Amino acid sequence: MQNALITGITGQDGSYLAELLLSKGYEVHGVIRRASTFNTGRLDHIYVDPHTPSARLFLHYGDLSTSSRLIDLIYSIRPDEVYHLGAQSHVMVSFENPEYTGDITALGTTRLLDAIRRSGVTTRFYQASSSEMFGAAPPPQNEQTPFHPRSPYGAAKVYAYWVAINYREAYGMFCSNGILFNHESPRRGPTFVTRKITRAVAHILAGKQDKLYLGNLEAKRDWGYAPEYVESMWKMLQRERPDDYVLGTGESHAIREFVTQAFEYAGLDWRKHVFIDDRYKRPAEVDFLLADPTKAERELGWTPRISFRELVRIMVDGDMESLGLTCRGEGARILREKFGAWHQWNNSVSDNLKAAVGAVLG
Ligand code: NAP
Ligand code: GDD
Repeated sequence: MQNALITGITGQDGSYLAELLLSKGYEVHGVIRRASTFNTGRLDHIYVDPHTPSARLFLHYGDLSTSSRLIDLIYSIRPDEVYHLGAQSHVMVSFENPEYTGDITALGTTRLLDAIRRSGVTTRFYQASSSEMFGAAPPPQNEQTPFHPRSPYGAAKVYAYWVAINYREAYGMFCSNGILFNHESPRRGPTFVTRKITRAVAHILAGKQDKLYLGNLEAKRDWGYAPEYVESMWKMLQRERPDDYVLGTGESHAIREFVTQAFEYAGLDWRKHVFIDDRYKRPAEVDFLLADPTKAERELGWTPRISFRELVRIMVDGDMESLGLTCRGEGARILREKFGAWHQWNNSVSDNLKAAVGAVLG
């Protein structure tokens, strides 16, 4: 049985990736941070008691700040594949905590790569690189576009990108960078702009909120649907040789358009609810991200299926449903019609995955 280690398994992407790998028959190990409250909400639907003989998902305490623990984990799990998704991933927070962001997002990658090198374990390594690395570089951005990061987060990701390439060149390790453009879902962290908007729509409909404060509405992002992006991570590690790939939809929209579509879909007038608060504006903005994913399409056979309009609907429905509101149901329909077998609506588990994790789920 193939086994994989995921850092950042409790995050949006980590949870979807765990589902994908379980559905492919992997044993999945994830690094989680100790917290005084449960932080495994995104994994609850696939978690089974590790005492269960058929259990294939195992969680281990650890932190990207601590090399000794990372060496331990690599040495004892001896993973075939490592997906390094753990990071301080919020751009605005990185302006407030630049040193911490550098420690975890940049140096954390060195710690993990060096743990692999020192343990002598042969494994394939995926680095969660980001379109934030392009920053001020004019669109469209592809693998040849020079980086010009605009935040401590972007700069930390540039470092991590190069250190992954350095371990590939210096030690012959299989290290691939996925340079992913923004990808969202109902599991997106609530302080990223898309989820902040769709959560607010649901809260306004439920009478729990009236105003939504946002920052810059003019920045443009290339937004896709997260489960499709974790498929690309797996594909990268199945290639014969390691390489670096840009992943995005090739379509870009302003924050204002996301706001308009989300409110309109829910039958609300956004002008009555949305207000600007400068505190959400960044000291330096990334104005325009637009992927040129030609290489990924050609070499990985990866093409996104969910459009911007559909993404908005999936997320609004997800937030309405989680508040117990009756949603329009477009989201579930879109996923049924367009998405594959391993992931279905919101946190529901597909039959394929149920079979894979065994009777314990039932
Ligand atoms: P996310 O939801 O913020 O998840 C980040 C994960 O990293 C969480 O599991 C978090 O654990 C973990 N983490 C944070 N600090 C850690 C530490 N010190 N030690 C160990 N784990 C730590 O991010 P995401 O959206 O899933 O993104 C996954 C990765 O892809 C990140 O590296 C992100 O920077 C990168 N990326 C994301 C996008 C995107 O649009 N989503 C695009 C390009 C690249 P807790 O749950 O305990 O906080
Ligand atoms: N978070 C947030 N909150 N962003 C806002 C707000 C607000 O109230 N108002 C406007 N924005 C704008 C930001 O200024 C930015 O231009 C855009 O919305 C997107 O912000 P986020 O959703 O926070 O995402 P991001 O693009 O900065 O970063 C995300 O994508 C990167 C890939 O490009 C994160 O997931 C990063 O981890 C990821 O690497």
